[in-house]
Amino acid sequence: MKALVLSGGAGTRLRPITHTSAKQLVPVANKPVLFYGLEAIAAAGITEVGVVVGDTAAEIEEAVGDGSKFGLEITYIPQERPLGLAHAVLIARDWLGDDDFVMYLGDNFVVGGITALVEEFRDSRPDARILLTRVADPRSFGVAELDAAGQVVGLEEKPEHPKSDLALVGVYLFTPLIHEAVRAVRPSWRGELEITHAIQHLIDTRADVRCTVIEGYWKDTGNVVDMLEVNRTVLEGVEPRIDGEVDLESETIGRVVVEEGARVVRSRIVGPAVIGAGSVVEDSYVGPFTSVAENCRITHSELEFSIVLRDSSIVGVGRIESSLIGRHVEVTPAPSVPSAHRLVLGDHSKVQIRR
Ligand code: DAU
Repeated sequence: MKALVLSGGAGTRLRPITHTSAKQLVPVANKPVLFYGLEAIAAAGITEVGVVVGDTAAEIEEAVGDGSKFGLEITYIPQERPLGLAHAVLIARDWLGDDDFVMYLGDNFVVGGITALVEEFRDSRPDARILLTRVADPRSFGVAELDAAGQVVGLEEKPEHPKSDLALVGVYLFTPLIHEAVRAVRPSWRGELEITHAIQHLIDTRADVRCTVIEGYWKDTGNVVDMLEVNRTVLEGVEPRIDGEVDLESETIGRVVVEEGARVVRSRIVGPAVIGAGSVVEDSYVGPFTSVAENCRITHSELEFSIVLRDSSIVGVGRIESSLIGRHVEVTPAPSVPSAHRLVLGDHSKVQIRR
């Protein structure tokens, strides 16, 4: 069995916080979301991985390399334009050969990996298996309709009036029958060859398409609460490791990772928390469910249940909670007079200010 990982698509810089131009490299607990997918594939015993890349190919290839750090053999498959998920399968046809494969969207995160699913697929080998999850607003997903027996009877891509709250997760298990289906579909209203339509084609031609409903699914929709939540879930499972320096006046408690080159000085870190390489935490407190990325400076401050992206500094500001702080950000105390708020806020910002 092989894996086809989709990391193409156009670079996006639309959100108020742009972690990176490749959405597959958004960090979760200081690690790109794509890496969790690659690790899940390796853990499921798959070694041959095709990675579909587009505009952001250089960034993806620099981060992933030849795959050896994941125990994988990676072949990059360039896609000239993001013409759809089914188009990615079309262009990977020769590389895939007649093997079964798991197709994994590089910006999706599935808690607990895919090992059990892959094992089950190897044993039962239906023509395809899709994963579904319940979401609050299914309109930005592919949506499945099931019959009373729990069989998939219909799939719609981003419907205005969804027939259920069951969204398609970006992990699909296919036999080579999918190649006929992707050749049969025509571009959708958004000009893409949709994998959703190819799977509908399988259903219409009476192929055996099964589904599994999962919990513990995440993708970056720009929602800060969701982002903090997935970060929390991953941090809960990190193995404590101190590769950087923690001085004698500091204390680390619980699952704490201090990366190489990071320094903790006269500070208290209560896990689960990670302090990225090259960051300095001085005279501060870093509390549970916090990720501080690389080359940050936290001085005379308290930070809890928050994400700080790389190259940012937080100096002398008291306590910060439930916050997402971008790259190259400086947070400093306001001068004590005059007693008015001075704000520079990006579009769609939400700020809570003490009255
Ligand atoms: O994330 C789950 C959803 O993914 C499903 O519910 C939908 O049914 C499915 O169509 C897909 O919808 P999105 O609109 O969210 O897909 P997106 O265009 O963001 O692409 C998903 C990943 O695949 C992303 O990592 C970029 C990559 N990609 C996308 C396209 C269109 C490619 O590599 N090539 C492409 O042509």
